[in-house]
Amino acid sequence: FGNGALAGLDVVVSAGPTFEDIDPVRFIGNRSSGKMGFAVAQAAAEAGARVTLVAGPVGLATPLGVARRIDVRSTAQMHVAILEACTQAQIYIGAAAVGDYRPSEVAERKLKKQAGADLVLQLTENPDILGSLSMQATHPFLVGFAAETHDVARYAQDKLQRKGLDMIAANRVGDGLGFETVDNALDVYWADGMLALARAGKTELARQLVACVAERYRAVRG
Ligand code: C5P
Repeated sequence: FGNGALAGLDVVVSAGPTFEDIDPVRFIGNRSSGKMGFAVAQAAAEAGARVTLVAGPVGLATPLGVARRIDVRSTAQMHVAILEACTQAQIYIGAAAVGDYRPSEVAERKLKKQAGADLVLQLTENPDILGSLSMQATHPFLVGFAAETHDVARYAQDKLQRKGLDMIAANRVGDGLGFETVDNALDVYWADGMLALARAGKTELARQLVACVAERYRAVRG
C-alpha cells in the first residue's frame, strides 16, 4: 500500500521534544508528543521513501516501513544525528520541537535545595538545526514546522524566508489543536503558494502533507 510519490528518495524526519539535562535527575523539556513527526515518517514510508526517523525522547513505536530510527535526547545529539543522516537525503522534514536553550552547565551531582534563596539557571542558545542545514552549500529540500498561537501566516512566511526553507507547515497551538492532541490542522507555505489542510487526525494530515511535499519537491528539484 502507498502511492510511490517519494519512491527512490531518502527522507529524514525529526520528531518529538528534546530534553536538556540540568543535573542527573532533572531536565528542561517541552510538551511535544512526537505523534505528528511519527505520522509524517509513516506517511513518507508509505509513499515509498527510505525513511530515517530521528526521535527525541518519546514512548512511541517505530511506524511500519521506517528504515532506520535514531533515538536522541538533547538538541546537540539531534543536531549531530540529523546532519549525518542528511548527507545522503533528498528531503528533510523537521517536525521535532527542538529546545532553543540548554543549561550552560550540566551538574554532575543532583542540585541541592537552598532553602529561602532563588536558584538561577543560566541557559545557552542551542544550534538551529534547520538553519544550519540551509547554510550548507548542498542540502536536502527543507521542510520546517511552526507552532504558533497567533499571527500564524505572518510568522510562518517570515520563518520560511529567515531560515531558508523550501516549505513550512504551520499549526495553531491551542483550541484543542497542536501538542498532546489527536487532531491537528496545518497551513503549508512555500515561496509562491500555500495549501490549507483542514482539521483531521495526524495520520491523515501527515499523508496530505507528504503528498504536498512530494509535489513541491518534484516541481523544484525534479
Ligand atoms: O523557530 P521555530 O523553533 O518555531 O522553528 C520551528 C522549526 O525549526 C521546526 O521545524 C524545528 O524542528 C526547527 N528547529 C530547528 N532547530 C532549532 C529550533 C527549531 O531545527 N534549534
